[in-house]
Amino acid sequence: MSTTIKSAEGKLGILLPGLGAVATTLIAGVYAVNKGISKPIGSTTQMGTIRVGKRTENNTPLIKDFIPLADIKNVVFGGWDLFEDNVYQSAVNAGVLDRYTLELLKPELEAIKPMKAVFDKKYVTKLDGSNVKKAATKMELADQLRQDIRDFKTKNNCDRLVMVWTGSTEIYIQESEVHQTIEKLEEGLRNNDDNIPSSMIYAYAAIKEGIPYANGAPNLSADIPALVSLAKQNNVPICGKDFKTGQTLMKTIVAPGLKTRSLGIAGWFSTNILGNRDGAVLDDPASFKTKEVSKLSVLEDILEPEKHPDLYKDLYHKVRIDYYPPRGDNKEGWDNIDIFGWMGYPMQIKIDFLCRDSILAAPLVLDLAIFLDLAQRSNMSGIQEWLSFFFKSPQTKKGVHPIHDIFKQEMKLQNTLRHLQGVELITFLGLDYED
Ligand SMILES: NC(=O)c1ccc[n+]([C@@H]2O[C@H](COP(=O)([O-])OP(=O)(O)OC[C@H]3O[C@@H](n4cnc5c(N)ncnc54)[C@H](O)[C@@H]3O)[C@@H](O)[C@H]2O)c1
Repeated sequence: MSTTIKSAEGKLGILLPGLGAVATTLIAGVYAVNKGISKPIGSTTQMGTIRVGKRTENNTPLIKDFIPLADIKNVVFGGWDLFEDNVYQSAVNAGVLDRYTLELLKPELEAIKPMKAVFDKKYVTKLDGSNVKKAATKMELADQLRQDIRDFKTKNNCDRLVMVWTGSTEIYIQESEVHQTIEKLEEGLRNNDDNIPSSMIYAYAAIKEGIPYANGAPNLSADIPALVSLAKQNNVPICGKDFKTGQTLMKTIVAPGLKTRSLGIAGWFSTNILGNRDGAVLDDPASFKTKEVSKLSVLEDILEPEKHPDLYKDLYHKVRIDYYPPRGDNKEGWDNIDIFGWMGYPMQIKIDFLCRDSILAAPLVLDLAIFLDLAQRSNMSGIQEWLSFFFKSPQTKKGVHPIHDIFKQEMKLQNTLRHLQGVELITFLGLDYED
């Protein structure tokens, strides 16, 4: 039985708090694809395929032909930033895309100007900007955001909206009392509680407005009991945290492979150099701490050392990020992996990933927006674990360990799509040779 999925016709507005490198690379990329000057490489919704039925049936359509997704020709963008630069200027500053391509897209990109941000330097100490909202309380700031959202929807004639946090990584904040219930959170918003950072105010505003919310950074944002219950109550799908790109993408590809061969790992040292604004923000130890927690959890969850003590109990895992301006957005992620095999004999693997951070992240933002819209049209609400595929630190129900293995994540995503369309799930577990 297929789920009833509401129509994907009409305009989808993608709202982005934070119009920096990732957001502008996404927006420019979508316009470039729509103009036929580029292809949506790296995007699961645009280029991914899905097998339907037995292997012998040879039926593997594009995902977007299998299930009704918003057409990227019908997408409009909006966003907030503490800097006044329009999307064209911000993309030039980010230095990710070449000037020639940006010039071709200049009129469209220039037309997107950031709305005034909800920003407090306390939570991102390395940034300072003037395009910032003012109000006596955090609740009033949330009300202003809610008004922005409604105005954007009317002005752009949108049928539906989604919000994806592409703002900077905030300082490390642990879940506390004010995060536990909607009532406490709302009281905290009225009393300017310090444990409510800007990203949480955006998440609250989106969910209150009935808009799906994804968090691309590792800060808590919507990952608190109060916002999870508000999302359930308002029929809003949410997910997070921290886009899975670069080094962690490699880790979640390599680690499951080593584990499946019962190879031991003695140590995994990961270091990164990057020189973009994200790198500058992560140069602050409090913001780095948020990122570190997100990056460190991955190996534990994949390798399950408590279940395989001989192989992983002594694993030494270290993650470093260093700000190094000459590289700009072109990050270098270097891994040294000390593994051991039969009779304990040691071996080493070195990975040197010369990647482009925003080139890897941009398609994930598009996929999250498009899949969250699908989730809402399919009447799904609360945490969307099937979207773990896109995250370093997937948001899960309390007490449930996240799945980090990218291949298990892919299977969960694809089976959710099959379930929504009422076709048989594929588990690769059947005994029939056609499975
Ligand atoms: N690029 C990747 O591969 C990747 C992977 C995982 C996570 N992320 C996260 O995605 C986010 C965006 O990355 P980026 O490279 O575009 O960074 P960036 O610094 O280029 O852009 C972030 C933008 O957010 C703005 N901002 C900060 N706080 C804001 C607020 N409260 N309201 C509105 N705007 C705000 C900043 O002014 C900046 O323009 C970062 O948190 C980063 O850690 C990126």
